[in-house]
Amino acid sequence: MSVELQKLATEIALQAGELIYRRRREGVTVAATKSSAEDVVTAADRESENLIRSLIADARPGDGFYGEESDATGSTTGVTWVVDPIDGTVNYLYDIPNYAVSIAVIEGDPDPLTWTALAATVTNPAAGETFSAARGRGATLNGREIRANADVVPSLAMVGTGFAYSAERRVWQAGIVQQLIGSVRDIRRMGSAELDLCSVACGRLDAYYERGLNPWDHAAGALIAEEAGATVGGLNGARASRDFTLATAAGLFEPLHELLIEAGAEASVLG
Ligand code: IPD
Repeated sequence: MSVELQKLATEIALQAGELIYRRRREGVTVAATKSSAEDVVTAADRESENLIRSLIADARPGDGFYGEESDATGSTTGVTWVVDPIDGTVNYLYDIPNYAVSIAVIEGDPDPLTWTALAATVTNPAAGETFSAARGRGATLNGREIRANADVVPSLAMVGTGFAYSAERRVWQAGIVQQLIGSVRDIRRMGSAELDLCSVACGRLDAYYERGLNPWDHAAGALIAEEAGATVGGLNGARASRDFTLATAAGLFEPLHELLIEAGAEASVLG
């Protein structure tokens, strides 16, 4: 079943990708703000989510839906689609070509975390890149198999991270960066959590971590990274979640986890 779901997820993601790319060329303005003035929604976010939602409902009417921009619907099949219609919305607003449509197909409940991801597609229409995976079947970039890096030591690791929209959380997150930067090769903040996880999957990053991600920010990329041979988890044996998501090249998880703990990643976050 995972392969059929992967095929459908890819078809739908590509259609939504074309839509948001076309809308970007026509010009984009902020339609609304959410948790803070920096946390924006464009009309294209909503249009993309509506399109994805209706294509899923046509193809698989009993499946659940859990998206960033609209109310969730329950599932009668046990399968739920976890959707970010534009991950990297702020990049999209500025026409920085690092944004994506992200779709994960899961079994279980997206919130609380009891899911198993079955299939996933993350497509960046501005780069013409589509990452995809089906559980147990490996991961691909534009149809070609990808593998995460291996045998990377922390001092030579290129690490990605991201920042929340709340000012207090960002300041806390910057404190972690300040502690970690002296122990790794370098740190990148590229602005799309799903593409960051796909970057770990294809070896453009050795690791990525972030605190405060929603299921639609990481469900698809986490499966793609795992299927590419990366290690994905949370802190202290927990699974990847809103609390903490860490994805690394094979062999790097434990040493980087230790550095993150030393940098204060376990501390409670304000805001
Ligand atoms: C955001 C991006 C960003 C990450 C934030 C997310 P959005 O998602 O993935 O890279 O650092 O935590 O909220 O708002 O662009 O869908």
